[in-house]
Amino acid sequence: MATLTLVDITKRFGRSVIAVNNFNLEVEDGEFLVLLGPSGCGKTTTMRMIAGLEEVTEGTIYIGDRDVTGLAPKDRNVSMVFQNYAVWPHMSVFDNIAYALKLKKMSKQDIEKSVKEAARLTKIDELLERYPAQLSGGQQQRVAVARAIAVKPQIFLLDEPLSNLDAKLRVSTRTELKSIHAQTGATSVFVTHDQSEAMSMADRIVVMKDGEIIQVGSPDDVYHESNCLFVADFIGTPPTNFFDADVKSVNGAYHLIHPHFDITLDEKNSAAIKNYGKKAVIVGIRPENITLVEEQKAILSAEVHVSEPQGSHQIVALQLDDHIYKIISPSLPRIEAGDIVHLAFPQSALRFYDPESGLRV
Ligand SMILES: Nc1ncnc2c1ncn2[C@@H]1O[C@H](COP(=O)(O)OP(=O)(O)OP(=O)(O)O)[C@@H](O)[C@H]1O
Ligand SMILES: [Mg+2]
Repeated sequence: MATLTLVDITKRFGRSVIAVNNFNLEVEDGEFLVLLGPSGCGKTTTMRMIAGLEEVTEGTIYIGDRDVTGLAPKDRNVSMVFQNYAVWPHMSVFDNIAYALKLKKMSKQDIEKSVKEAARLTKIDELLERYPAQLSGGQQQRVAVARAIAVKPQIFLLDEPLSNLDAKLRVSTRTELKSIHAQTGATSVFVTHDQSEAMSMADRIVVMKDGEIIQVGSPDDVYHESNCLFVADFIGTPPTNFFDADVKSVNGAYHLIHPHFDITLDEKNSAAIKNYGKKAVIVGIRPENITLVEEQKAILSAEVHVSEPQGSHQIVALQLDDHIYKIISPSLPRIEAGDIVHLAFPQSALRFYDPESGLRV
């Protein structure tokens, strides 16, 4: 096992495309790190550079204290699982897993032992004689994982390995990958653009956008303490609700003034807004923090646009002027389109963002 360190990594394709821009990251020994970001933000390119499949334009990659930047993929002690599995169709499952071990000139006995161990961890012991065409997508995906862990890599890279699986299998495979990680202890980097997958699997999440790191933190950090509008919007389903508000100081107390509410801020929020000093602010509130209350306790009222029952809860879309806001409510009482609902939220749930920079205040 080992740490993985990326120092000032930049990747350009031709003159115009900067796929990864000045990327700095240290992955701890044994950590399960998730790279999360929208399509095209540079996740695969970053993984391919770590694996040695793509040259870096600038920067240095270390595995432990070994500089691997110029090393061939086979000399890095890194395994990668690709989105499309890339298992070899003309080889049996056993031979797929054994292939890299044979290249390492391991003894027949050791190969058999390693293949069986990897097959046990990935629960494909019964399938070793089959060919990929005789397997389901989920089983092929396990073969790809087994092949990658059989070589006992120091660094284990998984690039959207679950994206071809159906929703239910995806969720159960998540759990299994985490358990394989716990058993092998390999330092792992996992790519996804699915924020709920990232939240449920990661020790730490790296949120990326346009080739750059936007925020690094635990799932709780990036969710509850999003450092900018992009993260507050990208993480969470439904995402954070945003309200444009004016800041006013009335008799020494700070108010947030919105066409539909006027809130007198508590001490902590007042201090944050005072330091910020500007007149306009974007207020972010997570959907589960806005609750239905009796009219006399309401901060604002709104008309229900649609309500989507989810079994355990309902997602209620509210129309306020030309904005749609979404809240999460208990499944009962059922709320219907056209209802007028009364809403409140605690001040501790408020997050402030600068409309110009998009950064957290
Ligand atoms: N070989 C290449 N030549 C030119 N541009 C490339 C090449 N590979 C990737 N890119 C560009 O680099 C950027 C990052 O691509 P990358 O594949 O790393 O994104 P990604 O985050 O993995 O996206 P996705 O979630 O869709 O897989 C994109 O703008 C892409 O078009
Ligand atoms: Mg990709």
